Amino acid sequence: MNGEHIPVLLGHVIDNLVGAGSRLFIDATIGGGGHAYHILERYKDIRVIGIDIDKDALEIAQRRLWLFKDRVTLVRGNFRDLKAILKTRGVSSFDAILFDLGLSTYQLMGNRGFSFHSEGPLDMRMDQREKLTAYDVVNRYTYGMLYSILKNFGEEKKASRIARMIVEERKKKPIATAEALSSVVCKVKKRRGRIHPATQTFQAIRMEVNNELHNIEAGIHGAIDMLLPGGRIGVISFHSLEDRLVKNIFRNSPGLLIHTKKPIAPDMVEVRNNPRARSAKLRIAEKI
Ligand SMILES: C[S@@+](CC[C@H](N)C(=O)[O-])C[C@H]1O[C@@H](n2cnc3c(N)ncnc32)[C@H](O)[C@@H]1O
Repeated sequence: MNGEHIPVLLGHVIDNLVGAGSRLFIDATIGGGGHAYHILERYKDIRVIGIDIDKDALEIAQRRLWLFKDRVTLVRGNFRDLKAILKTRGVSSFDAILFDLGLSTYQLMGNRGFSFHSEGPLDMRMDQREKLTAYDVVNRYTYGMLYSILKNFGEEKKASRIARMIVEERKKKPIATAEALSSVVCKVKKRRGRIHPATQTFQAIRMEVNNELHNIEAGIHGAIDMLLPGGRIGVISFHSLEDRLVKNIFRNSPGLLIHTKKPIAPDMVEVRNNPRARSAKLRIAEKI
């Protein structure tokens, strides 16, 4: 597939997260199946349960992991419900788990409102069964609600001016596409350097639509509870809010040995080959 998702920090995940004796690996964000594919290839005795909230992801993962189908179970679900998802499948513990947060390449390319240039509807739902879309947030939330999302979830310095501009512009006509939203933001913020001016706004709205921080917190707590002694949890995050949350959960969880005092970041070669990896940070901890 053109634009296939390239798994980030793959070598670190394979070498430091999954041990040679591991029997069950949970991929809480299976996405395109990239990490899972290489883990299944390297560890011949391992079984994988792959979870994703996005039905398109599971179709792609199923195709990619076809070769290993006897060792893979795919489940559509939200990792915030990890314990319940696994318990209904008779699983009460596992050896390793990965959360690779953020977006997959196919989501960015899929005209679902995630990318700045998407002309499709302003959607941004990872779970297509949920009701709240980015369109609702952008066109129906009050100034105060927009301001607080942009400030708290986007850490956007110009939150107030952007929120005001959104409210002004939508009076003329609804802001219906991602492209329209990014041009509203560009009226307030000019492009400087490589980062698109609407990056924080899109991040903030996506986090609101998908309830991301709440899910991450619930998912990681559930995972830590279910890890076997000696088992490892790895979380790859893509912005500072997520990374801080992961760091604090690890620090405040008793019985966890933290393997990454500083998070692991990609080297220059990886970033050159896969620019999406640029902001990735991997934290790993072990259950004692
Ligand atoms: C960066 S991609 C994972 C890519 C994957 N590691 C690979 O190598 O192909 C993140 C995936 O997490 C999924 N996701 C996000 N939030 C989720 C949640 N709360 N529960 C389950 N899956 C979620 C997204 O739908 C997306 O497919």
